[in-house]
Amino acid sequence: MNDLFQDAVSESGPVECLGQIFPSDAVRREHYLTLLAEKLKDPEFRKNEGFPIANDEAILALSDPPYYTACPNPFVEEFIGYHGKSYDSSVAYSKEPFLADVSEGKGDPIYNAHSYHTKVPHKAIMRYILHYTQPGDVVFDGFCGTGMTGIAAQLCGDRQVVESLGYRVESDGTVLEHQIDEGGVTWKAFSKLGARVALLNELSPAASFIAANYNTAVDVQDFKRDAERILEEVYDECRWMYETRHGDGDVKGLINFTLWSDVFSCPNCADEIIFWDVAADEEAGKVRDEFNCPHCSVLLTKRGMDRAWRTFTDLSTGQVTRQAKQVPVLINYSVGKSRFKKKPDQNDLEIVERISALDVVDWFPSDRMMAGGETRRNDPVGITHVHHFYTRRNLIALSKFRERIFSARQEKISPGLGLWFTSSHVWATRLNRLLASNYFKGGGGVIGQTLQGTLYVSSLSVETNCIERFSLRINSVPYTGRLQELSATRSLN
Ligand SMILES: C[S@@+](CC[C@H](N)C(=O)[O-])C[C@H]1O[C@@H](n2cnc3c(N)ncnc32)[C@H](O)[C@@H]1O
Ligand SMILES: [Zn+2]
Repeated sequence: MNDLFQDAVSESGPVECLGQIFPSDAVRREHYLTLLAEKLKDPEFRKNEGFPIANDEAILALSDPPYYTACPNPFVEEFIGYHGKSYDSSVAYSKEPFLADVSEGKGDPIYNAHSYHTKVPHKAIMRYILHYTQPGDVVFDGFCGTGMTGIAAQLCGDRQVVESLGYRVESDGTVLEHQIDEGGVTWKAFSKLGARVALLNELSPAASFIAANYNTAVDVQDFKRDAERILEEVYDECRWMYETRHGDGDVKGLINFTLWSDVFSCPNCADEIIFWDVAADEEAGKVRDEFNCPHCSVLLTKRGMDRAWRTFTDLSTGQVTRQAKQVPVLINYSVGKSRFKKKPDQNDLEIVERISALDVVDWFPSDRMMAGGETRRNDPVGITHVHHFYTRRNLIALSKFRERIFSARQEKISPGLGLWFTSSHVWATRLNRLLASNYFKGGGGVIGQTLQGTLYVSSLSVETNCIERFSLRINSVPYTGRLQELSATRSLN
């Protein structure tokens, strides 16, 4: 403990938190974690409506108090006491209602660093904050989702971002908006450059986790170092699962993605039919609606066929389970910088076989999908539990990432890694699908990412190399680099 303490001191140096100086950020965290642990023992505290169903250990593991607690935050009063200003009737406050159409695109890298179903672009929120508040004011969002209000509050201190909204910023920080009237275009002062302090609240533990991480300053160098180390470790253990032979020699390529196709059975001759093999029409550049059975030649459609099934003993339930059969039909891989595609050969199929017999040694979620039409839409094809949404290969690799990022709970691991995991992992699910038109005709990406609002698993589902996907996303997290410069104020979640 002592050594850890010393290292932490030398690494981060003294930090200020709510007016108190701590020798390092690790000490600050430890101090508040102890207070939170005490608070969690109070049965009255747990009676708060919406208190998460979790044990103390789990809540403490996620929390970074006083900034983020994965439960009602007992430090809110202290936070308001420190940042809030009492109402002063001698200071005039008058603001016209904000009246303008606000429209923001969804292409901003910050916006895209983590998806969420009801996300609002932070730049849209910034206009309201700049209009109604002054630097240092407390901005409260009681339904914060992924915390875009917090990002907006912090970025009100970033001249470049404020200017990107079409405002002018004077050297003393005065922010001006342009007005068009009879006299032409005039510039009118309406706000001041400077971060506001956000207080964010959210019912969903997943969203509060995302919001907290979005709003926490991260050292980009630390983040990259840890992420690259973890990538290397996972690759060391898993690379063999993502390798494929290039040509007849010893050259090995690295798989970018594997296309899996549904398998059916012919209603006429009962032989198995691999959907991709009969429906993919390279010449016409499309997936055919009608095709002939390769065994008995009868004319078929996808709907007119019966499913082929795969029966196996489930990893987590130990029960004999039946799932609609999918097989690998195409491999897209790289050798150096060149990309190739191939039909899986005997060696590839043997690797998949070998993997399917492997246990997943690290923890993975295996809950029954929650009741609901959409959540259980895949019951008829045997995808009934969370882990069924991953191929065994990606489930193994993902669980290794997760183990290193979350379970280890090493004090010195970069906090940005959690967000890296939750924002990248969707690429590892079986919800990705082939964009057939782009595949055949070119003109864009061939992997269609998860469709919003549905858990539909396509007949042609794409299994990415999830390690590669994590690697590509390392550069999507550095929005935190920008926030790092702005971390003079910190928001509370
Ligand atoms: C429209 S979303 C906000 C999205 C957010 N603006 C963003 O950019 O990510 C509303 C959020 O309110 C949360 N919510 C619903 N009821 C709540 C409650 N009683 N207390 C706190 N949060 C709640 C939902 O989980 C959801 O994330
Ligand atoms: Zn047939």
